[in-house]
Amino acid sequence: MIIVKLGGSVLTDKTKPFTIRYATLMNLISDIRKYINETKNAMIIVLGGGSFGHFIVSKCIEDKGFIDEYCASLTSNVMNELALHISRLFNISGLSTMVFTTHSIFTYDNYELKGDTKIINHYLKQQIVPILYGDVILYKGRFKVLSGDEISWYLASILNADKLIFVTDVDGVYDRHPRYPNARHLPLISLSKDLNKIRIETRGYDVTGGIIGKLKIGLRYHRGFEVLIINGLIKGNLYKALIGEKIKATKVIP
Ligand code: IPE
Repeated sequence: MIIVKLGGSVLTDKTKPFTIRYATLMNLISDIRKYINETKNAMIIVLGGGSFGHFIVSKCIEDKGFIDEYCASLTSNVMNELALHISRLFNISGLSTMVFTTHSIFTYDNYELKGDTKIINHYLKQQIVPILYGDVILYKGRFKVLSGDEISWYLASILNADKLIFVTDVDGVYDRHPRYPNARHLPLISLSKDLNKIRIETRGYDVTGGIIGKLKIGLRYHRGFEVLIINGLIKGNLYKALIGEKIKATKVIP
């Protein structure tokens, strides 16, 4: 089973509110369809918030200092709508995707994420490709952002995935922001040894910490399955990563 996190940076233009990168999205859908048609492997797709979820949450925090019930409702509905829209595009390409309302599956129990993976497994067994998304969930009377990254790590760890692929807008991890000419690409990164080697700030609307956030969460969940961070802006890259062909990317080990 494979988990693919389609990051907000590749699905949307993170600097422009509510903007989908359709050309890129259609390439990613086509890679996934090709892979599933050829292998019949099970897959779960997780969507990031990009300029949808992140935009709303950052505005709320700017205006009110926290996520109130109206903001939670707005964020959740917008993310659900985005997921349904993307799921319909998968349907048009012939794939059997189904959106799972993420906040009704996940909860925190004493700071630990808990998800109803039984229900997801149930559908996976019937060749459905579940789609989940970064959402807002209620914890101890407060609304909290649950990132698509954490959902992906969690599901990979609990469901014993063979592979977890983070699709982003860069070729993986660099020692500093890739816009610097002297930024060095890191083909392999160990979560326990290398995290202090990276200095990166995030761009656009982002409330969950960008690439560093993604890696830090992994510390909790990495059980030795294969983890790749790849560039989804390059056509065909996702398909290559899915079938195990070598591309410029970062492999993440515990
Ligand atoms: C964020 O999910 C979800 C919301 C803001 C509601 P992610 O943190 O996984 O999103 P991206 O991939 O960084 O955009």
